[in-house]
Amino acid sequence: MENFIAYNPVTLHFGKNILPALGATLKEYGNRVLLVYGKGSVRKSGLYDQIMNDLKSQGFDVSEYGGIRSNPVIEDVDAAAVIGREHAVDVILAVGGGSVIDSSKIISVTIPVAHSGWDFFTGKAKPARAIPLVAILTLAATGTEMNPFAVVSNHTQGEKSAFGSPLTFPKHSFLDPQLTLTVPRDYTAYGIADLIAHSFEAWFGTGEATLTDRFVISIVKEAMEYGPKLIGDLHNYEYREKIMFAATMALNGMTMYGRSTGDWGVHSAGHILSLLHDVPHGASLTIVYPAWMRHFKPKISDRIAQLGSELFDQTLSADQSIDRIEAFFKSIGCPTRLSDMNISGVSRQSVLSSMIHNKVNGGTVKMKEDDYGALIDLYL
Ligand code: NZQ
Ligand code: ZN
Repeated sequence: MENFIAYNPVTLHFGKNILPALGATLKEYGNRVLLVYGKGSVRKSGLYDQIMNDLKSQGFDVSEYGGIRSNPVIEDVDAAAVIGREHAVDVILAVGGGSVIDSSKIISVTIPVAHSGWDFFTGKAKPARAIPLVAILTLAATGTEMNPFAVVSNHTQGEKSAFGSPLTFPKHSFLDPQLTLTVPRDYTAYGIADLIAHSFEAWFGTGEATLTDRFVISIVKEAMEYGPKLIGDLHNYEYREKIMFAATMALNGMTMYGRSTGDWGVHSAGHILSLLHDVPHGASLTIVYPAWMRHFKPKISDRIAQLGSELFDQTLSADQSIDRIEAFFKSIGCPTRLSDMNISGVSRQSVLSSMIHNKVNGGTVKMKEDDYGALIDLYL
């Protein structure tokens, strides 16, 4: 095993009808709330009205920033930070999926400063203070609710980057699986794929940690058992609950204990597809993962075979394992080639250039420019 530090300060509220505790939680931080949300799902579901009525009846002073887009952009982060600064907010309430919560993490460290939130991604600035963040998660996928990471795009710079600091953990996250009942089939599948991919990124990381490997396998098996059931029955609370719990556990630090790094090469390559073609995050991963395993098989064949054998409870070769994993992604309706997304204007050269510009790489399985081209050819 590798040495490791386990630290996770997020208070997680999980289960049915937990939102009545929201007001008292926000009050711990003050009275002026910045509510941040996405393009419209919270209005459609009635959650926006419910929260607004609740907060106003409890005397909160609420300002808001709506319209955070999927694959969020730095312009929204900076604009929301201006509002937060003008209203001198005491606390941020993020209501939505990973895009809203990630944006809110960067908003929380941008409000106290005078520069763009992008400076944190480039390393030009380090956050010294954060406005406390409380999150209500409406989509099970990223694990952002219980980790410090935020992923944001900057189209001017042609980059999609991740940032995290001990200051960017949410203080509290509320996870009521009922709030995910309205997530459509495609994003439900992408969420299942994302949590599986997070587990794989840990699996292909550095450090022999057999207990942690078992955590990883348990999480993926849970997703592979209940994911397809959920896809066939989107309004089933029990399946929503299982997937929501699995997604949180897949990226809250637990799968990294005893490892010095995860791999994250597939995420790094997937972000390019989201950046250039707005491919939903989970879909980008099911496109890249099979190609990545096929390409790097000579280096990690035993580890792929072990993964497949553990997941499917039979001895499988690396090739068989990749085929089975790819078939699983397809079975829940995820793309496994970029062409499955029916996007026009895809250019091999632009993907390649962006991979070079963004220095796509893995923490354990290192990639060079030759690998980029080979990967693209496998998933195009
Ligand atoms: O914008 P609205 O209208 O809210 O609609 C969203 C969006 O269209 C919709 N949605 C969310 N909750 C819903 C719902 N629709 C109906 N009912 C609900 N209850 O779903 C769409 C996707 O939302 P988004 O937040 O973009 O999805 P996700 O949670 O998958 O987040 C993706 C982002 O997270 C980043 C990704 O790169 C991507 O930018 N990631 C963040 C990570 C982290 N912070 O740890 C790790 C991940 O690997 C990932 O990189
Ligand atoms: Zn992910």
